[in-house]
Amino acid sequence: MNFKDKIIKEKLPKHVAIIMDGNGRWAKQRGKNRIFGHKSGVKSVKEVVEAAGTLKIQYLTLYAFSTENWNRPKIEVDALMTLLLNSINSEKKDLIENNIQLKVIGNTEALPTKIRQKISKVIEETKINTGLTIVIALSYSSRWEIVNAIKNISKEVKENKIDISNINSDLVSKYLTTSEIPDPELLIRTSGEYRISNFLLWQIAYSELYFTKKLWPDFGKEEFYEAIYDFQYRERRFGKTSEQILRK
Ligand code: FPP
Repeated sequence: MNFKDKIIKEKLPKHVAIIMDGNGRWAKQRGKNRIFGHKSGVKSVKEVVEAAGTLKIQYLTLYAFSTENWNRPKIEVDALMTLLLNSINSEKKDLIENNIQLKVIGNTEALPTKIRQKISKVIEETKINTGLTIVIALSYSSRWEIVNAIKNISKEVKENKIDISNINSDLVSKYLTTSEIPDPELLIRTSGEYRISNFLLWQIAYSELYFTKKLWPDFGKEEFYEAIYDFQYRERRFGKTSEQILRK
């Protein structure tokens, strides 16, 4: 089935977030090491970026490295950092040529200095771009982000900059790392795992969830288009009834 041609241009999600999972299992199935799986995962990142660009989706958030991933064996963490650095280096030109903006969310202070500097430079150089925005979640966890927001809001309450009566969900959203980004309408997770793993817990309150058994290195353009097609046939009610939605 060709999903791309079936996609309704007027019903596209503005923001798609992806939990890219299954690189390790994909490599193991081939008798290779986990790093081989991550390297193959980079190809899927490229495919999905191209597909999102083709559809003119505005935001694509990729969970590349969680706070918990720091606990993996050092050799794997180092390899993932090198892979990220190499990918940013090799893709920088393409990002600029294709009007793509790069953003990063997460505790970037925990990243090696070299990577932090490189990322800041590319963020700066792509900030005027108006096409797709790729948001890479790096050393990110949702609980870390929410705790940070609570700390910052509390500080401002203490300094009389915020009145407690003015704390509402819009204000909380402004204190998250995603303050400038709309909430994702669609969250995809690959590899047949049915969990959220500390990713965008606040932001996915009303997101449609799409789970596929495909391992991340096997997830390409066609699989991305299929997820968008599936999303377009969901009924998003936001707590209302079907009748209320259809009447609109
Ligand atoms: C999860 O698979 C994947 C990761 C922790 C890393 C994802 C990173 C990439 C795809 C490469 C670099 C990314 C960018 C944005 C250039 P897993 O290792 O948990 O797989 P498993 O569950 O099968 O062990």
